[in-house]
Formats: sequence, structure tokens, C-alpha cells
Amino acid sequence: MNRRHFLKNSSLGFSGVLLSGALLDAISAPIPKMKITKVRFYESPLSRPMVNQSMHIVVVETDAGLTGIGEGGYVDGIRECAEMVIGEDPTRIDHCWQLMFRGRFYPAGREKLHAIGAIDMALWDIKAKMAGMPLYQLLGGRSRDGIMVYGHANGSDIAETVEAVGNYIDMGYKAIRAQTGVPGIKDAYGVGRGKLYYEPADASLPSVTGWDTRKALNYVPKLFEELRKTYGFDHHLLHDGHHRYTPQEAANLGKMLEPYQLFWLEDCTPAENQEAFKIVRQHTVTPLAVGEIFNTIWDAKDLIQNQLIDYIRATVVGAGGITHLRRIADLASLYQVRTGCHGATDLSPVTMGCALHFDTWVPNFGIQEYMRHTDETDAVFPHDYTFEKGELFVGDTPGHGVDIDEKLAAKYPYKPAYLPVARLEDGTMWSW
Ligand code: CO
Repeated sequence: MNRRHFLKNSSLGFSGVLLSGALLDAISAPIPKMKITKVRFYESPLSRPMVNQSMHIVVVETDAGLTGIGEGGYVDGIRECAEMVIGEDPTRIDHCWQLMFRGRFYPAGREKLHAIGAIDMALWDIKAKMAGMPLYQLLGGRSRDGIMVYGHANGSDIAETVEAVGNYIDMGYKAIRAQTGVPGIKDAYGVGRGKLYYEPADASLPSVTGWDTRKALNYVPKLFEELRKTYGFDHHLLHDGHHRYTPQEAANLGKMLEPYQLFWLEDCTPAENQEAFKIVRQHTVTPLAVGEIFNTIWDAKDLIQNQLIDYIRATVVGAGGITHLRRIADLASLYQVRTGCHGATDLSPVTMGCALHFDTWVPNFGIQEYMRHTDETDAVFPHDYTFEKGELFVGDTPGHGVDIDEKLAAKYPYKPAYLPVARLEDGTMWSW
């Protein structure tokens, strides 16, 4: 095409837009004015007395009658954030986020990020309802049809875990996280607590689980050897190290697991010192995932920029809502790091709904964790997402598509439930 021809065409096209009265009207139509009038907080019976283990539900009300639902935070954090945004225009989501994050002398820390996350989810819900669109449309639209999820297969030993993985394969899962109890470790965390629905927070005071790195390093690779022997290599297998290993031990585990081609090794070592992952990375090609307890982009910056991880596991609620999780995902995309949002039953269907809209949009999606809620929880939180053949699909309900039945919820009084703590044999506290 020659230049003159191009200019002629483009100027025609441009004037065509300017002359279209209908389009001009659409562009100049005022966005209805709206104000946040009230923020309500609901402590679910499934709540845990820890801010990063949520099910605290927040309802943001507006003078236009639209309400949004979010999840996260604790009473004081929610109160502080609510005081800041009441009277604000709920459509100014980034502005409200900055206000909550920077609007007091100290920038928000871990606890407050959860409260910000709750209100941010509600604001996206309001805006999407106002637009009459499912939330993913506001983010940039659909990048994929279904969201690949992984389920939790647990057993008290290798044989039990192999069987549990088989159950997930039968249900159509394409990806399964496999955890096994280890002989000689008393009450290892998260094993042998039933099939599809298990709740790791099991007591009103924290129970104690054991840990022994040497025994785990001897046993865990045998689980994956057995899984590959039994089921072949067609399914994605994942494993969670729960921050229990030192970088050198984690490197050793990653190396031993290489023949079994894991989708990822999660939380292999604590990430407070992001440089620790360099040691792991230098020694193994097993893909690494971390971040379910991360809050801001700064928690992940070095890990991402130095390409020390393959998957970032930050959640909508923990990472200050959709607004901030999107920033993390965009940074990650520059370095070919993909998302793998935490999605255990510490989070209600509200966070799951938001995560699924996020996953439907985010270009550098990897996988989504999915622990099923009980029928009681599902009834309290009617939601528009469905499971089919190892994937979750969001519907087209405007907003994030998750509601709360407040009457039904009121029937379940709040009762605290803690996650267990981990101790070495000599009683030393260890990472959860
Ligand atoms: Co984990």
C-alpha cells in the first residue's frame, strides 16, 4: 500500500468515526455518579483467626443500590479501609486502592493488604455489575475457555496417595498435587483427612504435626516414581514442600524429582530471602512455584526479575485484590513467569470466583488450585462457575458471579479453627 493511499483511507476512517452521531453520544454518555455508603463485615463460621486464612466476607454498598462482595481482612483492617473509601466513587478502583494503601502514614503491610483485597474485589464486582458484564470482560476479555485446575490427592503412605491420585484422574483432572505421609513422622500435615473435602484447620487451638527433613527426602521421590509407574506421564503432577526445606535440601529434592517431570515443586524453601531461590535454581530444572503467602509485588520482584521461579502463587485476597495481583502478573509476564493462584478451602467461593475471572483473562496463566467446598459452603455462597473435565468455567453473570445468602449464613455461628503447627522431633518450631 502506498503512503498516500494509506493516509486517505485512515483519514476517511477517522472522519467516519467523528461523523457518527450515535457513537459520539455513546462516548459522551456520563457514567452515573455513585458513592460508597457502607461497608459491612461478616465473620463466616468457616473463618480462621488468621488474616491470610480468610472467609471473612465484606459487602460494599452504594447509593445507587449496587452492592459488591469481597473477601478477606480482619475487623480492624476492614474498619480502617472502610473509613477511607466511604463517600468515594466506587468506579475509581485504582484511586481507592492507592488511598487505602498509602492513605495512612505507614504503607499497608500484610494484614491490611488482605483488607484492601476484600474491598478491591467488591469494587470490581460493583463496576462489572454496573457494566452488565462478567468481570473478566473489564480486565480485557477472555484469553481462554476453561481454567485448568489441580486437586489435592493425599494419603498416609505411598499406596494411599497413589490411589487418591487415581480418583482424581477418574474425575477428569489433568493436574494433581500429591502429598504423602512419611513413615516415622507423626501426624504429617494434610494427609489422611478424607477424600474430596478436607479441612486442614481442624481445631479451636492449633494441633501439632511433626516434621523430619531426612525422612521426607528419602520417601517423597519414591511416591513420584510409583505415580509415574502406575499412571504414566500424561497428567501433570505437583508437590508442595510447605517451606520445610533449606535451599540446599530443596535443590536436592528438586534434582531427585527430575525424572518424574513435575509440573511444579511448590514452596520448596521460605522466600523471605528471595536470593535463596538462586541456590535451588542452580541445581535443578524442576519448575518452581511460590507465593501463596505473598502480599505486594515487592515480595516477588527479585524472584521474578531473576527468573528464579516459574509460577507465582499470589492470591486475589492476599495480594491486595485484583488491582494489585494484575500488576504482579504483568511484571511476571515480562519474564515468562506464569500464574498459579492459591485456591484452598481457606478461601470462600468469593475469592475463587474472582480468581477464575482473573484466570480467564490473564495472558500468562499457568494453573489454578482448586479444593472443593462442602455443600454447606456452596449453599451459603451461590456461584456461577462449574467444573468439567479438569477445568473450571465462569459464567456470564454480571460481576464476579458469587453471592452470599446472608439469611442462611446467619444460621452458622462463627467458631475459630486453627491450622496445625509443625515441630521437629525435639520440639523445635518449624515452618508451617
Ligand atoms: Co501450598
